[in-house]
Amino acid sequence: MPKPIIFSGIQPTGRKHLGNYIGAIRQYVEGQERGEPAIFCIVDLHAISVPYDPVELRERVYDTAAILLAAGLDPERCILFRQSDVPEHSELTWLLSAVTAHGDLNRMHQFKEKVGKDRELASAALFYYPVLMAADVLAYRATEVPVGDDQRQHVELMREIARRFNARFGETLVVPELVIPEVGARIMDLQEPERKMSTTGGTEQGTVLVLDEPDLVRKKFGSAVTDSGREIVRSPEKPGIANLIDILAVARNTDQAQVEGEFDGSGYGDFKKAVAEAVVEYLAPVRERYAELRPDEAGLDRIFGLGAEKAQALAAPVLAVVRERMGYGAGSPK
Ligand code: TRP
Repeated sequence: MPKPIIFSGIQPTGRKHLGNYIGAIRQYVEGQERGEPAIFCIVDLHAISVPYDPVELRERVYDTAAILLAAGLDPERCILFRQSDVPEHSELTWLLSAVTAHGDLNRMHQFKEKVGKDRELASAALFYYPVLMAADVLAYRATEVPVGDDQRQHVELMREIARRFNARFGETLVVPELVIPEVGARIMDLQEPERKMSTTGGTEQGTVLVLDEPDLVRKKFGSAVTDSGREIVRSPEKPGIANLIDILAVARNTDQAQVEGEFDGSGYGDFKKAVAEAVVEYLAPVRERYAELRPDEAGLDRIFGLGAEKAQALAAPVLAVVRERMGYGAGSPK
């Protein structure tokens, strides 16, 4: 079996939370072993599809890189780069738009959600977001795309775009597979355990950030919503307790049954304290490494430079084929 070519894109924000860490970032670190190569791109071009501040954007890109490196991405073993440093992504977006149906873009859930009430004022970039995402992946002929469940529809569309391109211009692009992490894909908000942990849609107190101070982490777990019962078991009627069991299992690298057995007969208060301590310990090394890495922007720039060079070496030849197939450039001599 050839090794997969893994590609994933990460939004530039310093506010990565425990759900991002467990559901996505951990998978990237593991992907470095499996992927050949494993390619991770901080998607600063996607970031401008909603209102933003240019100074902030640059800062958040550094924050994100430092978090990923602190979590264990190694620039020697993966390709980590900034999307805007590799212009092939923008060019391929335009070329792929020729085989993308307007109607499909109109049907994207994320577009409808983000547009909100005022459709007329949404940027065209927001509408094009899925085409840029398709270009990100297809430029590398990636075979696997590890993403959260909310990105399912976008990956379906990029598969469709690849198929349409191939049908229209000849076999050129690879149709990638969606990979959704099974473990910990759904870490829920501590205050509203019916919804996913999220920095945009969740509660402040129910969202544990990777970079939160230990005391804040303890406070958030201390006020986590449970239920009026007393049993520590995973059941649909106990979403708060079930979520805490899941989190503790991941933080301690064990399974849910083990956690249930250990806390059989304990009170909720002691259980919440144990979860808090385990998470503090789990995130401590990441926070510490982040504090060392983040101030060294020149060092981060060197990593970006190296990553962009490696990324471009892969994407440029694919773009050359795409351009040729679409009828651009001199073509082969007759
Ligand atoms: N849209 C993705 C998200 O919000 C980020 C992303 C951009 C991405 N380009 C990608 C993910 C390519 C996977 C592959 O999470």
